[in-house]
Amino acid sequence: WGLSLPSAGVGMQLSLKSSSTKLACHMTNWAQYRPGTGKFTPDNIDPFLCTHVIYALATINSFNQISPIEWNDEQLYGSLNSLKNVNPALKTLLSVGGTVNGVSPFIAMVAKPESRAAFINHAISFLHTHKFDGLNLDWEYPGHNGSPQEDKQKFTLLVTELIKAFEDDANDNRRTKLLLSANVAGIRQTIDRAYEVNNIAPHFDFINIMTYDFHGHWEAVTGHNSPLYGSSVDPVSQIHNNINSSVSYWVSLGAPSEKLLVGFPTYGRTYRLSTGATGLGAPANGPADAGPYTRTAGFWAYYEICDFINTATLGWISEQEVPYATYGSAWLGYDDQRSYSSKVQWLTANNLGGAHVWTMDMDDFSGSFCSAGAYPLINHLRMSLGFTPKPTTTPRPTTTRNPSTDFCRGRPDGLYENPADKTTFFQCFQGNTYLHHCQPGLIYWDSCKCCNWP
Ligand SMILES: *[C@@H]1O[C@H](CO)[C@@H](O)[C@H](O)[C@H]1NC(C)=O
Repeated sequence: WGLSLPSAGVGMQLSLKSSSTKLACHMTNWAQYRPGTGKFTPDNIDPFLCTHVIYALATINSFNQISPIEWNDEQLYGSLNSLKNVNPALKTLLSVGGTVNGVSPFIAMVAKPESRAAFINHAISFLHTHKFDGLNLDWEYPGHNGSPQEDKQKFTLLVTELIKAFEDDANDNRRTKLLLSANVAGIRQTIDRAYEVNNIAPHFDFINIMTYDFHGHWEAVTGHNSPLYGSSVDPVSQIHNNINSSVSYWVSLGAPSEKLLVGFPTYGRTYRLSTGATGLGAPANGPADAGPYTRTAGFWAYYEICDFINTATLGWISEQEVPYATYGSAWLGYDDQRSYSSKVQWLTANNLGGAHVWTMDMDDFSGSFCSAGAYPLINHLRMSLGFTPKPTTTPRPTTTRNPSTDFCRGRPDGLYENPADKTTFFQCFQGNTYLHHCQPGLIYWDSCKCCNWP
């Protein structure tokens, strides 16, 4: 799956404006529970990779206060925010949202002025206490899922009151203003029901449009998770389920284009084919099997995808500028370096604010699956957006060049077992040998090209 797009040329053009371009990367506090090499904590974050890291997810308790979800969240907040000792330019935000018993905790909080005020006051002190630079609102969605229609107006009130309080906090206490961002819907019907776009958009530092989950196994035919454009097989009700339509809609409703970040998924969505057809729009009846690390049927992390595409038949949906892959009855619509390049060219041509990534923990963050180094997708995105190269001192704790061995001389690129020590393995890249260590307790298995339990 070689790359052919002229991303270097695009990168050079863009480097002039890269100081305002954002690359916001989400991490999730549930990725710590994935097995073996899939386990992800803030210690796995390259501090120079993204301009902003957004920690998902915290909730809102019955006192209208931000409340951690995992037992060790506060410790993980500490590890994340200590990365700023390594890269002082890095900004971090805490994302608040999710559901409690299936209901968004925002609904009760926005209902009354005094509960909004309680939330805002507590949020400011909580963010400063844990050394976050800002707050990310992840309400999916005002006016939806049991949320009353007027929550659209209440969301506007929340946003305007928040930004006023952040400004007052900065002025009164002489500190840097907290950042405010939001994850917002990409599907038009949801946008119409959830947001007063021209009233809220100017207040955000940036807006993460969730330009993914446009299609998935809940539909009866195959469709791509995150297509750049529509396709000729789109049913009429879905002609706007693509990045180009979604983002232009936000702009047409009055959102400043330089605040909009296009969502780049590091995962693909799967289907189980139900006939011999294997293309876009082929009949399907549910998801393919769950991946061994993400363990949820319907999507695979990019590092799981790397294993799949080694043996699968690969295709390119040229109308939508995204790849797909099939093997047996499994169908996968995913993203790779080539589709990332197309999307970056598109967002640059449309003067958008940059990209956000869902998520860091689903890229090949350790570099042990895809034979393309750590964070192959996000590093490619960073380069395509025209950011300057990272400092060469970027720590790569799991990867050390091992010049004492000629193991890889004459061998194809890829991963190999180290017969002398099963807790390590070799990666061959362009004839050079790299020795990787599995995480403690794990050994390397050539059958999956991964570290797993003995
Ligand atoms: C992209 O969106 C714009 C605005 O909605 C539309 O005019 C244009 O035809 C779209 N491009 C493609 C290739 O679909």
